[in-house]
Amino acid sequence: MVRETRLHPDQLVYPLFVVPGSAIRRPVASMPGICQLSVDEAVAEAQSALAAGVPAVLLFAAPAHKDAQASAALDPHGLAAEAIRAVKAACPQLLVWADVCLCGATDHGHCGHVLPGGVIDNDSSVQTLAAVALNYARAGADAVAPSDMMDGRVQSMRQTLDRAGFALTPIISYAAKFASAFYGPFRDAAESAPAFGDRRSYQMDPGNGREALREVLLDVAEGADLVMVKPAGPYLDVIRQVSEAVPVPVVAYQVSGEFSLIKAAAERGWIDERAAVLESLTGIRRAGADLIITYYAPTVARWLRSL
Ligand code: PBG
Repeated sequence: MVRETRLHPDQLVYPLFVVPGSAIRRPVASMPGICQLSVDEAVAEAQSALAAGVPAVLLFAAPAHKDAQASAALDPHGLAAEAIRAVKAACPQLLVWADVCLCGATDHGHCGHVLPGGVIDNDSSVQTLAAVALNYARAGADAVAPSDMMDGRVQSMRQTLDRAGFALTPIISYAAKFASAFYGPFRDAAESAPAFGDRRSYQMDPGNGREALREVLLDVAEGADLVMVKPAGPYLDVIRQVSEAVPVPVVAYQVSGEFSLIKAAAERGWIDERAAVLESLTGIRRAGADLIITYYAPTVARWLRSL
């Protein structure tokens, strides 16, 4: 009765990695229990998450064709668009959040366009990202979630969506996304590791909490409907500051590396997996997150129902 912070399945979002083909469930070696899924298998996984009580999935696509323009992400019949359509058709009540980024569809694996010399071209990337968001909204995404960290993309996306008749599609902005070592396993799953350099020119320095707040406030001013802090565990202070500063819901992403650390220790019998997962998610909620994206979402939803 006196517990201050509660976890509920309604607060959880489950990421899915979609790959080309059919009947594919390819385990991600660095993320035990998580698979790359063909569209049909992603639908099955989405259905089982919904049955467990998870209200939303976050879709990532790893299309086969990668080029400098990120064409696959702009294609109305590209992998991501088809996955969005298929999941919505099979589970209309499940919310589909579409991750919007270029890294899964570019041949260089960066989140934006690259200029000669390897510099990321912020402004042309913003144009493409807005077009990608519109493509996913047209495919039926309930929300678009830009994870690229270019400056000005929320405003550009909002204008593009509004003009095309998608004024009601919310933007969930990865507003404070740090250049983190904890994304390592994800890059295997999403096949999105940068071919050269790193992401430090667009993602944030882990030492900068005040700058995180500034990034978040800019995104809210540009029209973000929800804001995200990512990773979650090493950035609880940022979650707290952001939740006190903004009038919109705060989402925290317990990223691949945070998941894999718990998994690896649990597999060795070094940690009680269930207790550790529930404690880590409770801590993220206590810090101020309204919603949590976690690879444990369906598992936790089932645990919470059986408590
Ligand atoms: C791509 C993206 C990344 C994650 C979500 N979207 C990786 C990155 O920025 O390199 C990480 C998620 C995770 O580690 O679980 N822009």
